[in-house]
Amino acid sequence: MKKSKYNVCVVGVGAVGIEMLRVLRQRNFPIGELRVLARRSREIEVDGQKYSVRTVSPEGFDGIDVALFAGTEGEKGAAVTYAKEAVKRGAVVIDNGADFRMDPDVPLVVPEVNAKDVKKHKGIIANPNCSTIQMVVALNPIHKKVGIKRIIVTTLQASSGAGKGAVEQLKTENAAIAAGGYENVHVNVERSLPQQLAYNVFPHIGSFVECDYTNEEWKLVKETHKIMHDNKIKISATTVRVPVRTGHSESVYIETGKPITPKKVRDLLSKAPGIIVMDDPKKNIYPMPKDAEGKDETFVGRIRCDCFVKNGLWLWVVADNLRKGAATNAVQIAEELIKY
Ligand SMILES: NC(=O)c1ccc[n+]([C@@H]2O[C@H](COP(=O)([O-])OP(=O)(O)OC[C@H]3O[C@@H](n4cnc5c(N)ncnc54)[C@H](OP(=O)(O)O)[C@@H]3O)[C@@H](O)[C@H]2O)c1
Repeated sequence: MKKSKYNVCVVGVGAVGIEMLRVLRQRNFPIGELRVLARRSREIEVDGQKYSVRTVSPEGFDGIDVALFAGTEGEKGAAVTYAKEAVKRGAVVIDNGADFRMDPDVPLVVPEVNAKDVKKHKGIIANPNCSTIQMVVALNPIHKKVGIKRIIVTTLQASSGAGKGAVEQLKTENAAIAAGGYENVHVNVERSLPQQLAYNVFPHIGSFVECDYTNEEWKLVKETHKIMHDNKIKISATTVRVPVRTGHSESVYIETGKPITPKKVRDLLSKAPGIIVMDDPKKNIYPMPKDAEGKDETFVGRIRCDCFVKNGLWLWVVADNLRKGAATNAVQIAEELIKY
C-alpha cells in the first residue's frame, strides 16, 4: 500500500551501511521511523547526525516496511540469518550481498537498466555487486542501440570495496611504510585482504572457483546476464585490487552487433540516465576514482575504437563503489519500490 512515510531499517554499519544512512538523508527518502541494526549495539555519528545502533534480532524487524541489508555475506551473515525473518514480519528486503542475487525469485536491479524488475519481487530484492552495477549502467544504452556480443573487462577495485577492515589495512600499511620504510609493512600489519595492498596491486578478489576465475569475476558474468536479460553476451573478467580508498575503475572492451562510432557512443551515453561522459584526453580529461568519490553517477571516458577488430570498442568506467556500487543503488531500488 502506498504511504506518505515508510519505516526503514538499515542492517550493518560498516562501509556500506554508513553510506546508506548518508544517502537516505541526502535523497530525502520518506522515512517514518529509522532503525539501525548491527551485531553490537552502540552510538554512532554520521555527518554530525547521531544514530543508536541496536543489536539485530527477529523482533527488530516488526513494523518495518523496507529493510536495507548491508551486513556481511554468507552463512552467519545478516541476510542469510534475518532476511526471510524480516519478510515474514512484513518488510521488503533490499540486500547488498551476494546471497540471493542469483535466486530466480529475487529480482536483481539497477534502476537505470531494469527498474521494472522491482515489481516481480516476492519479498527480497538484490542489489548487484559494485563492479557489475557501474558496468551495466555504462553498457546498457549501447546494448539497446547496437547489441553487445562480447565484453572483456578488467576491474581496478578500491580497498573500501572489501569493507572497513580493508580500508584499515591500507591505512595501516601506508602508515607503517611512512614510519619505518618499506620493509616495515611486512612485519607490523594485520591483514584482512589476501596480500599487502599499499604500493601493490593483486589480481585476486574473492576466492578462486570454476575455470580458475574468482567468484568476483563470475559475478560480473552472471549478474550482467540477469540484469540485462541476455545470457548470450560472452563475458570474461579479471578483477584486481588496487591501493585506492574508494572508487572502482574498469577497463571495458566490447564488440557490438552493429557498428557504432566513438562519437555516437559519447552522444548516446551523455543523454543516458546516471552517466557523466568525461572524454577529452587531449586536455587530460578522463574519469578517475578520486573525482568519483562521493558522487552517485557512473563516469565514462577513453571511448575509442579497436583499430584491428570490426565493431570493437574500449571504454573506461569509474564509479564510487560505496554509493552507486552499493548504497545509492539500494536506495534507488527502495524509491522504485514505493512508486508501485
Ligand atoms: N563495500 C562495497 O563496496 C560493497 C559494494 C557492494 C556490495 N557490498 C556488500 O555489502 C555488504 C556490506 O559490506 P561492507 O563493505 O559495508 O562490510 P563491512 O564494512 O565489513 O561491515 C559489515 C557490517 O555488517 C554487520 N554485520 C555483520 N554480520 C552481521 C549479522 N549477522 N547481523 C547483523 N549485522 C551484521 C557488522 O556489524 P558490527 O559493526 O556490529 O560488527 C558491520 O556493521 C556485504 O554483503 C558486501 O558484500 C559491499
